[in-house]
Amino acid sequence: MDWLAIASDAEVSTRPLAVTAHGVPLVVLRPRAGAEPVVFADRCPHRLVPLSAATVEGGRLRCAYHGWEFDAAGSCVALPSQEGNPPPRADLPTGPRIRVRDGMVQVATDDLPGGDPADLFTNEDPSLAYAWHPIGIAGVDDVSEVELLGRRYRPDREHTQERWGLLWLAPEKPLTELFDDPDHDDENYVGAWLPPARSKASAGIVADNFLDVAHFPFVHARTFGAAAEKLVERYEVTEEPWGCRSVQEQWFDNPADPEVLAGRRSSRQRRRATYVYRAPFQLMLRLEELDAGAVKTILFFAQPESRSSTRIYTKMLFHGIGGVADPTPDVLRSELAFEEAVLTEDLELQRTLRLPGLPLRMRDELHVRADLLGVNLRRVLRRFQDAVAPAAALGGAPTRD
Ligand code: FES
Ligand SMILES: [Fe+2]
Repeated sequence: MDWLAIASDAEVSTRPLAVTAHGVPLVVLRPRAGAEPVVFADRCPHRLVPLSAATVEGGRLRCAYHGWEFDAAGSCVALPSQEGNPPPRADLPTGPRIRVRDGMVQVATDDLPGGDPADLFTNEDPSLAYAWHPIGIAGVDDVSEVELLGRRYRPDREHTQERWGLLWLAPEKPLTELFDDPDHDDENYVGAWLPPARSKASAGIVADNFLDVAHFPFVHARTFGAAAEKLVERYEVTEEPWGCRSVQEQWFDNPADPEVLAGRRSSRQRRRATYVYRAPFQLMLRLEELDAGAVKTILFFAQPESRSSTRIYTKMLFHGIGGVADPTPDVLRSELAFEEAVLTEDLELQRTLRLPGLPLRMRDELHVRADLLGVNLRRVLRRFQDAVAPAAALGGAPTRD
């Protein structure tokens, strides 16, 4: 049997360290200061987020994305989004045998875990040519030449359209059209764009992150997450053509509500969150404050630029924020700054990710109840890929939904 040095004993601490052994990503750490090192595959069984981005506390490893906790043996001992014991599949697979020799941590090479999954939906998936993609904000971005699907395009009239103040390009006859957003056409709403952002994560992963509700307490601890419930209430998802919709009611803190400031209403309030998704990367979240009556709608679109770059467009639409029909410029500014801070937290998480695309094979990840929207996203993208594949192979146009 061969032993391979992966780290010096001195550098292994309670801060998880990413290493590789024969190309296999591993994480090595000490569950407690001074304890023997432990090694696992560097991926959380849930959404395959590297465990090297996790934190160690009280002898447990806590994943950065949804806070699942693992003990020193790899058993999942906490799965915060749901009640009851975590399913056995949530445990980390046993890592390779390990020993410390001559000040080096070594692993047995004949029981290294498998590598990352290969069936991933990347930003260069051929099916994506048959869809509308955002390419820039009208009147702001130079769109004479744009990066999309790993290629450069010079958009012409025939393949472009403008919607919501955004320019869209479909390289081939699109399988589906853009969704509707009634709030955008309602003059009682005030709209504003966030500065477009970039992520190294694929658009599929970015979309999955947008639809995810279980990460709030862990990823958004500096903005709204500290007050967010860890437990995700049961919700349903309705299928729509090339997409889905889900209505969820959540508890949240609303300290800025004028009625709360006046002491007439509790700051702990109910909110209705409506998520809308349409393939490939059209997303919307409508947040209705059920007590205060304010509505905040977030339009969120991802441009798959290349295998390692996604541009993100976020448009906010406000109604009744702060108890008045038209928010003042100050209120608008602070709402936008807040949303930007929230997006920054998601981008920080996305920076830790290693996979170049979204896994579409259900068994590559471990889906739990809170992931219903993410499961639907994966199903729709798989259907999209399948619907387009024969046409893409023949170079013809696919049939419409
Ligand atoms: S808890 Fe690790 S990816 Fe969700
Ligand atoms: Fe988020």
